[in-house]
Amino acid sequence: MEKRIVDPMAGGEDGTLDLSLRPKTLAEFIGQRQIVSNLRTFVDAARNRKEPLDHVLLSGPPGLGKTTLAHIIANEMGVGIRTTSGPAIERKGDIAAILTALEPGDVLFIDEIHRLSRVVEELLYSAMEDFALDIILGQGPSAKSIRLSLPPFTLVGATTRTGLLTSPLRDRFGVSFRMEFYRPEELEEVIRRSARTLSIPIDEEGAGEIARRSRGTPRIANRLLRRVRDFAQVEGDGRIDRKVADHALLRMEVDREGLDVMDRKILRVILEKFQGGPVGVETISASVSEERDTIEDVYEPFLIQRGFLKRTPRGRVATPAAFRHLGIAAPKAAVQDRLFGE
Ligand SMILES: Nc1ncnc2c1ncn2[C@@H]1O[C@H](COP(=O)(O)OP(=O)(O)O)[C@@H](O)[C@H]1O
Ligand SMILES: [Mg+2]
Repeated sequence: MEKRIVDPMAGGEDGTLDLSLRPKTLAEFIGQRQIVSNLRTFVDAARNRKEPLDHVLLSGPPGLGKTTLAHIIANEMGVGIRTTSGPAIERKGDIAAILTALEPGDVLFIDEIHRLSRVVEELLYSAMEDFALDIILGQGPSAKSIRLSLPPFTLVGATTRTGLLTSPLRDRFGVSFRMEFYRPEELEEVIRRSARTLSIPIDEEGAGEIARRSRGTPRIANRLLRRVRDFAQVEGDGRIDRKVADHALLRMEVDREGLDVMDRKILRVILEKFQGGPVGVETISASVSEERDTIEDVYEPFLIQRGFLKRTPRGRVATPAAFRHLGIAAPKAAVQDRLFGE
């Protein structure tokens, strides 16, 4: 399948650029003010006590800065970081090997922590709570359980939705932050910072235009900036202003609300095939040939935040704004009542 230009997942050249554009300290981290100021306090307090930071859970859609924050936490604590992901840790032995190799105080970052296998997750409970590993040696009646002590560490877990975690795991995090989509002013700052780093000439209006159309997501803002730069170089004099940005974004089929082809496809299915809904997410998923999880974790949060979609107990419902945005006639009064009347 063709890659979406506004796909918030990292891919291709994002990898290396993510690294070079990644803020390294809390002071450089743009937006998410509340999270940043709380983290500042927790980090300072833990450092004063010469203790590791409490375990931190970061949740939110892809591309909002979870991995970046995990690295910043390690950097601000002045400790090392070991990174892995839920699906990568297959057996008990894998997690035991990782945990026993940590240096005291280190950060262990587990991305997609909701995808840990049950046995691995259960081993983590005592590791998080008591810095200990309970290992069973042998089998049957002669089996013995031994307790291995671990260096104290900070687990930083990232997930797209906290609802995907089991409650015993969720409860073992002392701190839980939900990352929100960024405001256009914040993304404008991200874009200007990246443009400076990459030496891309851009004016205020150009940065503002890209910011408004980046789905509230820094990773997308950085990617659109690079693609708009291509258009500016080939079709202009290399500078990005509002006109160049608008033209380039329309050519990439990112509309003036920042919706891309898939966003519009989802809305169109709900609006045209199901008269605005309610319609189940499974049905949407089948109609647009996209996985249910991706729809729920990536597309819906933004469409909901922008006021184009609502989750109701009976399914997804498109709002009048969605009808207006796609230029589709809104349903008759009776249907409107059913949809929006309270
Ligand atoms: N608050 C921020 N300020 C500046 N750039 C950011 C910020 N958050 C994320 N980014 C940029 O977006 C990219 C993606 O962030 P990342 O931490 O990988 O997201 P996630 O792990 O949530 O998918 C980073 O490489 C960085 O360049
Ligand atoms: Mg990440």
